[in-house]
Amino acid sequence: MKSISVNLKSSKYDIDIENGLLDDVGFEIRKIYKGTKIAVVTDENVYKLYGKTVEKSLEKYSFKPHLVILKPGEDSKSIDTLQNLYDNFLEFRLSRTDLIIALGGGVIGDLTGFAAATYLRGIDYVQIPTTLLAQIDSSIGGKVAVNLRQGKNLIGSFYQPKKVIIDPLAIKTLPDEQLKAGISEVIKYACIKDEQFFNYLMEIKTKKDLFNSLEHIIYTCCNIKKEIVEIDEKDNDIRMILNFGHTLAHALEKHFDYKITHGQAVAIGMHYITNKTEELGYTKQGSKYELEKLLENFNINYNLPNVDMEEIREYVLLDKKNMSGNLNLVILRKIGEAFIQSVPAERINLFFS
Ligand SMILES: NC(=O)c1ccc[n+]([C@@H]2O[C@H](COP(=O)([O-])OP(=O)(O)OC[C@H]3O[C@@H](n4cnc5c(N)ncnc54)[C@H](O)[C@@H]3O)[C@@H](O)[C@H]2O)c1
Repeated sequence: MKSISVNLKSSKYDIDIENGLLDDVGFEIRKIYKGTKIAVVTDENVYKLYGKTVEKSLEKYSFKPHLVILKPGEDSKSIDTLQNLYDNFLEFRLSRTDLIIALGGGVIGDLTGFAAATYLRGIDYVQIPTTLLAQIDSSIGGKVAVNLRQGKNLIGSFYQPKKVIIDPLAIKTLPDEQLKAGISEVIKYACIKDEQFFNYLMEIKTKKDLFNSLEHIIYTCCNIKKEIVEIDEKDNDIRMILNFGHTLAHALEKHFDYKITHGQAVAIGMHYITNKTEELGYTKQGSKYELEKLLENFNINYNLPNVDMEEIREYVLLDKKNMSGNLNLVILRKIGEAFIQSVPAERINLFFS
């Protein structure tokens, strides 16, 4: 088993990665939790595929799991569903010394993590991510949140899990669109931090290659995220580098009313900004071409759809990451190296026009 230890000022936990690990969830949880009651939050799709496996494994180690099965999709990351979770926890008489498991994609992870952070002023939770995006990104680093009518992730906290259990084999059942969304974020890690990893990804030509490499890919991405989060847990500085391609991506997601996957929007955002910054002389010539080749290898579209740039600029300025009138834009120096450029609001046309 590959294991990564995340060492933060306030907490320390392991990310365990191994093919088939879902069968051993009970054994892994026993290492960190001596009690019996566990609330397992999941969605209908994930429950059908993996719910029984996890339930059986927990029971084998004398746990008493109480399943809460939600509707799949972003709409479940809401205040209403949060209330529903609290109702279930209370009915199950879950106490502060019990445990919660988030079994699913980023929606389940973010929502359940926020419920765990707030229920009885905080109860331990474990992330068992089942989408590629959740395995390499959202399950690590403790950002938990729910959406409001007014926007995404407007209510949230930093609340670290006690453990992250990753079974790369779970990715085999993921719909193609979701797989590509995860790959976009994999490519993002390579672009900002690891040229060697970028070249490694370039060698993947078939789906078979991809699935054979998944354990290594997930491990590499988790390791990059761990290193960044250890330096800047609360996203005040270097953690912002993880937002490469995300400025335009957030605007596109909003424009398309979230009918475009986050990963697809990130692919377009990474390509768009690299094209611009190469033109402007910030980025080494040829980087855009390298990025295009890699995205094409995975059949990921990177072309900017027909959108009104005026509207995009307005979204960009509203984005919550714009601090004190300046936009923190993540720019590639070259493939494998990124930096954060503070751009005054009046100069954003330079990048988004
Ligand atoms: N906390 C963070 O740091 C962070 C980072 C990035 C994204 N996010 C959040 O993550 C969310 C998106 O997460 P997501 O992309 O995982 O979406 P998701 O949780 O909606 O999952 C996508 C779909 O895949 C299904 N699914 C999950 N696992 C499956 C499997 N193994 N096989 C088949 N189907 C499966 C789900 O039921 C769902 O229909 C957004 O809300 C976003 O804001 C959070």
